[in-house]
Amino acid sequence: MRAILLGPPGAGKGTQAETIVKEFSIPHISTGDIFRKNIKEGTELGKKAKEYMDQGKLVPDDLTVELVKDRLQQDDCKKGFLLDGFPRTIYQADALEEALKSMDQKLDYVINIEVRKELLVERAVGRRVCKDCGQTYHTKFNPPSKDGICDNCGGDLQQRKDDTEETVANRINVYEEQTAPLIDYYTKKGILINIDGEKPIDEVGKDIVAKMRNKIV
Ligand code: AP5
Ligand code: MG
Ligand code: ZN
Repeated sequence: MRAILLGPPGAGKGTQAETIVKEFSIPHISTGDIFRKNIKEGTELGKKAKEYMDQGKLVPDDLTVELVKDRLQQDDCKKGFLLDGFPRTIYQADALEEALKSMDQKLDYVINIEVRKELLVERAVGRRVCKDCGQTYHTKFNPPSKDGICDNCGGDLQQRKDDTEETVANRINVYEEQTAPLIDYYTKKGILINIDGEKPIDEVGKDIVAKMRNKIV
């Protein structure tokens, strides 16, 4: 299974990725997570990416494309992969297609999680992420049993630096201008699956798996 998760900031890509990768036993490749890991470790890539991410802008295409190409060459991607947050521009989508072609591979599905704009800011601002294991929560929609503490590992929950109201608004604008055109791009290729992302988390997961299993585009 080779698939992409598409959707605006806060739509639930990371949340649903957990279900999908378990179901299909494929690696979860989130460019946002890879950049955040590099920022935490203070790498050169992290330093470059941070400037853009803190403002809610896209990291330049050349940096992002190289990173993903390298990742897709790794052994665990032989059986497939789930990309989350990549591609985000037409340039990235074309580069991905070319890279896959050179490996004799092609995409099976692009899962487009649809959530109205007015719900996105609340989702992102209320998000909390475990600093140790990365598990995602929401203060209102998916709270941990103990405030500020991860159910999985007992780690502290933190807020992402780009999850302020202002930066989320920027990210939504960037999405609409640069990423939303991919909906048309993949519809034309006949591999886009639209998903109602406003249902409760577990229902959205079931809908995605059912459509992927039954090849409903
Ligand atoms: P990235 O980390 O990819 O952020 P994003 O696309 O803005 O998406 P989010 O991670 O904010 O949202 P999500 O859809 O994963 O939602 P989640 O499941 O967490 O990118 C960050 C930055 O990195 C970018 O701004 C850019 O600078 C850079 N970057 C990354 N990739 C790049 C690329 N390809 N090119 C250039 N730059 C790149 O859910 C959100 C919250 O809602 C959670 O609290 C969750 O619990 C809750 N929730 C989820 N589903 C539901 C539901 N059904 N009902 C109620 N609540 C829900
Ligand atoms: Mg995410
Ligand atoms: Zn944890």
